Amino acid sequence: MYRSHTCGELRIENVGQKVTLAGWVQKSRKLGGMTFIDLRDRYGITQLVVEADAPAELVDIATSLGREYVIQAVGEVLERQSKNSKIPTGDIEIKVSGITILNKSVTPPFTIEDESDGGEDIRAKYRYLDLRRNPLKNALTLRHRIAHEVRNYLDSQNFMEIETPYLIKSTPEGARDFVVPSRMNPGQFYALPQSPQTFKQLLMVAGYDRYFQIVRCFRDEDLRADRQPEFTQIDCEMSFVEQEDVLGTFEGMMRTLFKNVLGVDIPNPLPRMSWYDAMDKYGSDKPDVRFGMTIHEITDAAKGKGFSVLDGASYIGAISVPGAAEYTRKQVDELTEWVKRPQVGAKGLIYIRVNQDGTFKSSIDKFYAPEDLAKIAEAAEAKAGDLILVMSGDNKRKVQTMLGVLRIEMGNRLGYRDPKVFAPLWIVDFPLLEWDDETQRFYAMHHPFTAPKPEHEALFYSDKKEDLEKVCANAYDFVLNGTELGGGSIRIHNADVQKRMFEVLGIGAEEAEYKFGFIINAFKFGAPPHGGLAFGFDRVCALFGGSDSIRDYIAFPKNNQGRDVMIDSPSEIDQIQLDELQIKTDVKGE
Ligand code: AMO
Repeated sequence: MYRSHTCGELRIENVGQKVTLAGWVQKSRKLGGMTFIDLRDRYGITQLVVEADAPAELVDIATSLGREYVIQAVGEVLERQSKNSKIPTGDIEIKVSGITILNKSVTPPFTIEDESDGGEDIRAKYRYLDLRRNPLKNALTLRHRIAHEVRNYLDSQNFMEIETPYLIKSTPEGARDFVVPSRMNPGQFYALPQSPQTFKQLLMVAGYDRYFQIVRCFRDEDLRADRQPEFTQIDCEMSFVEQEDVLGTFEGMMRTLFKNVLGVDIPNPLPRMSWYDAMDKYGSDKPDVRFGMTIHEITDAAKGKGFSVLDGASYIGAISVPGAAEYTRKQVDELTEWVKRPQVGAKGLIYIRVNQDGTFKSSIDKFYAPEDLAKIAEAAEAKAGDLILVMSGDNKRKVQTMLGVLRIEMGNRLGYRDPKVFAPLWIVDFPLLEWDDETQRFYAMHHPFTAPKPEHEALFYSDKKEDLEKVCANAYDFVLNGTELGGGSIRIHNADVQKRMFEVLGIGAEEAEYKFGFIINAFKFGAPPHGGLAFGFDRVCALFGGSDSIRDYIAFPKNNQGRDVMIDSPSEIDQIQLDELQIKTDVKGE
């Protein structure tokens, strides 16, 4: 038996017991002839003491121990003289009678402490050491706990967990595929799933009316704090349901998670906002509603005073930043530079200070009299002390999106985005289609299996672009604190409607047959009405943990270049492997 207890287990009640512990040496120090060793495992830290009068052999072993050695210690539990109230085992220590070194360790490249001295790169390279630290251990523990709660809840609702394949064919979620060459079928490739979308719909055709899977998805897209090339979804699908049924079921799941994992009650029912309202008021389809500072259209109030930038714009919008009238010229200039960065893309920023005495000071004083500015302030619902920030342009959604980004930035600067405050909501009534000027075609806003709202079906069959732009879908996103945690829709279950969808998306009959023939065909065999959604599991974990970076909640994540620096992947493969696959590479370099 390697151990009788873990390193987090022993308490004052255990005093007098003979125990055997095993773990890693966190640190060891000598004090007046005695050796103190902090022994660590997943469960905690226990202090071991080798007395000054212990046998010389034992003292020698104790003093020879280096950081991260793996040892087994036998001894008796004693009450500590000087207790440590910071750790649960702080009332006791083990008077050691024997130590066995199970394995030595070279000196780790960084300290295994909550606040490590190692930089991000070195910790990524030695991820298995980083994972020994409490912050990461706690993150993975939280992840495990959430997965467990999800399974419990969905099982209680009659959902079946069914695995779907990873070596498949392209799934249309809008990112690039990762592909895998097939040795047995030279020149042919599998695609790794961007999601199990098509398979879960086939499971509905097969009659498994409530399916879920905690499943890995793969997307070759640009990475950010909340995006990884391989990530995990809580993927779900239900048959014989309408939007209300799906929203109700998954509100229930999120409510259970919040309650059981965090002890937090979220509103019942959850608030809902239409996509149009979200864009108009927050400039985002994933609004952070923990704070106001919403966008106001001020086009009518601001136009017609001879200022060409605004007079020439078709949309003018503003946010009123509370208390920011105090901003100095330098601060406003810095903000203007901030919105001009390519990540925001604004041409400039107009400001109006609403002073405490009711007077105004603005960057457009030359064109606007105080009463004109008062009109704008009224339209922007600004109060004394606010700083009104104005943007304009020809594309309303583009201007709103830029104002939305600025709103989030101001929310951060003003400390409005406390990660311990949770404001979940559903965004509903998404447009079905999104027009892309560059390629002059429609794209599915969610994915091509999303059904138009029944009342919009006539519009859906129209040939006019304006009509198609108006078609809404029964699509929904679950949004938390400015992050899209999940999304889904009611699906098309009729082969003709699916065909029309491909037509609208400019996917020809032949291409549709080649790419999705299997699902179009399956729909001919009695597909039930169905719908579902998928949550980004890594994002759920990160937000529950109070972070917006999912990397810490994944045991072995990739870096921003999509590399795993620990195993050094991706990497070249042997010529023999390439030959077997009949693949020639032709790397052009940078
Ligand atoms: P969608 O593409 O919206 O929908 O994805 C669902 C959720 O997955 C998470 N997510 C990601 N998380 C981390 N890294 C990524 N690269 C990444 N991409 C997406 C998000 C997102 O809300 N098949 C549909 C769902 C459905 O219709 O049922 C789908 O995949 O949290």
